[in-house]
Amino acid sequence: MYKTACLISLLALSVAFFSRCFQVNTTGSSDSRGPLYAGSQACIKCHQPVSNSYIHNNHFKTSSLVNAGSLKTMAAVAKDPFYFLDSTHISIEEKNNTIYQSLYAPDNRSDDRGAGQFPAPRSEEFDIAFGSGEKAQTYGYWKEGKLYQLPLSWFSDLNAWANSPGFPASHARYNRTITSRCFECHASYIKRDVEQSGSLAVNEVLDSKSIVYGIDCERCHGPALEHVKFHQDNPDAKTAKFITRISTLSRQQRLDLCAVCHSGNDRETQRSLFDFVPGDTLSHFYYPSFGATAAEPDVHGQQLQLLRLSKCFNASDMTCSTCHQTHGDQATTMDYSTKCYSCHEGSAHATDVMKENEQRKRDFNLASTTCVDCHMPLVASKTIILNDGAGAKTIPYLLRTHRISIYK
Ligand code: HEC
Ligand code: HEC
Ligand code: HEC
Ligand code: HEC
Ligand code: HEC
Ligand code: HEC
Ligand code: HEC
Repeated sequence: MYKTACLISLLALSVAFFSRCFQVNTTGSSDSRGPLYAGSQACIKCHQPVSNSYIHNNHFKTSSLVNAGSLKTMAAVAKDPFYFLDSTHISIEEKNNTIYQSLYAPDNRSDDRGAGQFPAPRSEEFDIAFGSGEKAQTYGYWKEGKLYQLPLSWFSDLNAWANSPGFPASHARYNRTITSRCFECHASYIKRDVEQSGSLAVNEVLDSKSIVYGIDCERCHGPALEHVKFHQDNPDAKTAKFITRISTLSRQQRLDLCAVCHSGNDRETQRSLFDFVPGDTLSHFYYPSFGATAAEPDVHGQQLQLLRLSKCFNASDMTCSTCHQTHGDQATTMDYSTKCYSCHEGSAHATDVMKENEQRKRDFNLASTTCVDCHMPLVASKTIILNDGAGAKTIPYLLRTHRISIYK
């Protein structure tokens, strides 16, 4: 039964993967990024294993069109409305196969305030999801070329809906815009027009039809239509042409390839991150960051800065790929202790831990105490702080620190 369910969802995913990509022909492609791009569908024919495993990767799933079907199980959890301190509440409800976040005034208006004191009831539907849902998912709805964030987000560890990160506990907010900046890290492309309104204020209009959802092959590898054409025409060529070979890049370039999205969300950009291709230099895209964040990087989104504070990183030629496989299913396939031990076989302490792990597993079938539990502990983010609305309790958002060290 479970297996069948898995298979069905697998199939659904691959259908989504294949169908949302673009038609390629020998004269060009219809990819909204322009004539140099082929679209992920074009890679499958020659890179089947990579393409197959990649559909399980959270990069691929990190933004998507919302489909009511996939939301239904999550919506079902929201039996109770979510209350704000001003006594209004939001219900997640389904009408005609569409799911909405609807705001209501208090059911019981017998208090002193009249109906006019409360915001008018409103309903907005789920259009776009950000985040794979590994830890969290937040949503946007479209209105006149602008995308607005919905007040409630889904948090997987809590198995619950809660106030979107950074939203107030006092009242529901429907007016926070989602800018192209979110897409630069969570999607492969969106076309934007900038309207100058007033002297400095810039008004951004997003083109929802141009979106290439998820982080696709060419988002990391750069435009590849020429590569596709060459290898179609030269099936005997075994060495890759017209594509940057990542193995030939310097360590810094390989780090920058990841750091373009993993070195902080609050930094000012000089150019669109969509233009970044392997081999580029990060400092051409971001202005240097000053101030407190540089000294105390957050576990959310600043993996590179944290890693830089580690002896492991400074005393070896470690990159992100030393521990992370880029195309696979990160969450289930990684054995981080083995990665650590591959460099720390010389440590008697590490050898003891590895032996103990094996023994625990063999004799008691117990999960291992991994190296990372002690040396890369879970830490609460300072930039993502959640609250549960009416109770206004804060809920920590835990991530692994990438400062590998000895902790007390
Ligand atoms: C017609 C066949 C063909 C198609 C289509 C194709 N490739 Fe390739 N690709 C090759 C061959 C052949 C190689 C060299 C052998 C290898 O590394 O697998 C290669 C190698 C690569 C490499 C590795 C380069 C290196 O050595 O580090 C990357 C990255 C790559 N392709 C990306 C893509 C992407 C992205 C797409 C889709 C937009 C794509 N390829 C479509 C044939 C193809
Ligand atoms: C275009 C932006 C972008 C680039 C480039 C990028 N990432 Fe990510 N990465 C993300 C986003 C966004 C997420 C969050 C995915 C989600 O929604 O769960 C993520 C998640 C991850 C995760 C957690 C995966 C999981 O299973 O939860 C790892 C590990 C990771 N990235 C490593 C890398 C490495 C290594 C590179 C470089 C080879 C890289 N990333 C390049 C944006 C990017
Ligand atoms: C998050 C960034 C990222 C995305 C997305 C991505 N790759 Fe890669 N790819 C890399 C990196 C980094 C390497 C170098 C090897 C490594 O470090 O794992 C690589 C290596 C490769 C290679 C050569 C080595 C190998 O593993 O076979 C091929 C071929 C390839 N990628 C194809 C693809 C295709 C096809 C897709 C889309 C289905 C894709 N990549 C998506 C980052 C990415
Ligand atoms: C500079 C790149 C960057 C920008 C800009 C960015 N994010 Fe992220 N986001 C990430 C990375 C990387 C992660 C992976 C987890 C981590 O490092 O904390 C992530 C995680 C998330 C998650 C949780 C995903 C999961 O399944 O765990 C959500 C939801 C999210 N971001 C939404 C947004 C929204 C909405 C915006 C715009 C307001 C935004 N992000 C802007 C890089 C970025
Ligand atoms: C690419 C090789 C490499 C990998 C992989 C690696 N390390 Fe290290 N690590 C080193 C080197 C080199 C040092 C410095 C040794 C020294 O100074 O004697 C170090 C130092 C350390 C230290 C001492 C830190 C301190 O502040 O004194 C700890 C703890 C550690 N590593 C744990 C880990 C853990 C846990 C992992 C896996 C998550 C890991 N390492 C992965 C190479 C590596
Ligand atoms: C020494 C090993 C190691 C290296 C090197 C490393 N990571 Fe990680 N990373 C981990 C471990 C362990 C986790 C936690 C995985 C888990 O809990 O399933 C993790 C988790 C993540 C996550 C998920 C969010 C979180 O904090 O739980 C992201 C994103 C990520 N790494 C990005 C990167 C990037 C980008 C780099 C390079 C700048 C990098 N990592 C280098 C070991 C490493
Ligand atoms: C229960 C917590 C815990 C676990 C699990 C753990 N360590 Fe440690 N580790 C420590 C502490 C505490 C120290 C510092 C005390 C010391 O020097 O023995 C340390 C020190 C180290 C050092 C520096 C000193 C030395 O012996 O070289 C390295 C390297 C290291 N650990 C690697 C690892 C690796 C690799 C693993 C997994 C195989 C691991 N540790 C598992 C707690 C732990």
